[in-house]
Amino acid sequence: MFKRKKKKKKKKKKKKRDCTNGGINAALGNMTEDDWRWHMYDTVKGSDWLGDQDAIQYMCREAPKAVIELENYGLPFSRTEDGKIYQRAFGGQSLDFGKGGQAYRCACAADRTGHALLHTLYGQAMKHNTQFFVEYFALDLLMNSDGSCQGVIALNMEDGTLHRFQASSTILATGGYGRTYFSATSAHTCTGDGNAMVARAGLPLQDLEFVQFHPTGIYGAGCLITEGSRGEGGILRNSEGERFMERYAPTAKDLASRDVVSRSMTMEIREGRGVGPLKDHIYLHLNHLPPEVLKERLPGISETAAIFAGVDVTKEPIPVLPTVHYNMGGIPTNHHGEVVTIRGSDPDSVVPGLMAAGEAACASVHGANRLGANSLLDIVVFGRACANRVAEIQRPGQKQKPLEKDAGERTIAWLDKIRNSNGSLPTSNIRLNMQRVMQNNAAVFRTQETLEEGCQLIDKTWESFHDVKLKDRSLIWNSDLIESIELENLLINACITMHSAEARKESRGAHAREDFTKRDDENWMKHTLGYWENEKVRLDYRPVHMNTLDDEVESFPPKARVY
Ligand code: FUM
Repeated sequence: MFKRKKKKKKKKKKKKRDCTNGGINAALGNMTEDDWRWHMYDTVKGSDWLGDQDAIQYMCREAPKAVIELENYGLPFSRTEDGKIYQRAFGGQSLDFGKGGQAYRCACAADRTGHALLHTLYGQAMKHNTQFFVEYFALDLLMNSDGSCQGVIALNMEDGTLHRFQASSTILATGGYGRTYFSATSAHTCTGDGNAMVARAGLPLQDLEFVQFHPTGIYGAGCLITEGSRGEGGILRNSEGERFMERYAPTAKDLASRDVVSRSMTMEIREGRGVGPLKDHIYLHLNHLPPEVLKERLPGISETAAIFAGVDVTKEPIPVLPTVHYNMGGIPTNHHGEVVTIRGSDPDSVVPGLMAAGEAACASVHGANRLGANSLLDIVVFGRACANRVAEIQRPGQKQKPLEKDAGERTIAWLDKIRNSNGSLPTSNIRLNMQRVMQNNAAVFRTQETLEEGCQLIDKTWESFHDVKLKDRSLIWNSDLIESIELENLLINACITMHSAEARKESRGAHAREDFTKRDDENWMKHTLGYWENEKVRLDYRPVHMNTLDDEVESFPPKARVY
């Protein structure tokens, strides 16, 4: 049952999602004059000054090169009349450090950018003879006793064999953990497996309390209606037909950043101005836009709205509700993609052999709130940064440290324990409990009371996992087993999220506390580190990087965040 595979250099990616349909930000300047420093300013401001400014500088400066590279790879971007890459308005984007009005910075392929990007990069991967292990499920990191990572142990779901992938560099790009919540735009595979592998290895997860609610998930179904729809002129209205965002964000209106729009929608609903029989959602109007714009720029969401809301967007508004969309927090990394942890007095100590990119990672370029279309950018730029770093520090044929004798054994015992679980609770019951707790107690608005109760309830839900019952004991195509492992992974993420949120006594970005309504830079301008120790959460903190990489730009000091 136990096979060993040895590879020269292995990038083990388990699951990744096509997380955005709206686009990818880059200061290309195709629609107006633009500058990566303006993009950087918007991103720092969007992060509510919790983002690391060196990493944000790196991402925004690299963005135009990354997008042109994608174009050269064949990504079918939408075009302007003169043949340039078309760029649309997106939330929280401005010109001239917030003084020049709305920026048009989001490059897109209609409203299917993530999908187009995925296929383009898959083609490149094929071209470079990348070997995929398609039905393999990564279980755990293989950590050496000296603290370095030597690869992963994975289950081949097709034949039930276990494999140790020995690697000089292991890059986690496993996506977020949106599925801890009842209603999420993310794929069902977004179960935070990479995060949980890191947590089980005794390493911290950073800033998990910051969970993004996208303003426009379809009411009930939760499917994403792209922010690009508002970028193309879509408007949110309450039951009185009022364009209420004018009151909350007089300048940016419907294109304020996501945390601001989601909170405003929630306020409208709370104050009785929601729409529908239960007055519990909001309308997104696109029906005033020319049908040819909808057809050319927003074909995907027009179809989604028809299928999941039964709405013809040319005639009727779409019922929408803030829906969990993105995890700003994740595995802490530096701007090369190397995973970092606190060792002694060093808060930025690199974990040798381990890297992370995309939603699984926390570089931290999004801080307390991510701007729309900075997510595809993050995965492309930092995925590339990881590759560049590997090329810099590794040599082909370089000798690897031998694996320790018992490498992976603990994981096999753990896997067997889950597989043979014979308690009284089906996996799906525990999962539903967890999703309800997260939805109710770590919502758009939070209080000490809801969060304390949330900590108790989520800890209890974790405890109940000891009483899980699996019916299928096989190792081949055992979805009962895989869902249970995913549930453990989700629960670890959920517990750290809730406890991190309870501890943070301020409002910043997506973490909106009704009892601590202000941002508190003096006490809370710091990253939370959540450790999973003996099945309990332990918290620590590390400083935010306020420095830039070089003198091409000065850092942006904190100020009030208004749109
Ligand atoms: O609304 C959207 O198209 C999503 C974009 C994003 O999350 O970056």
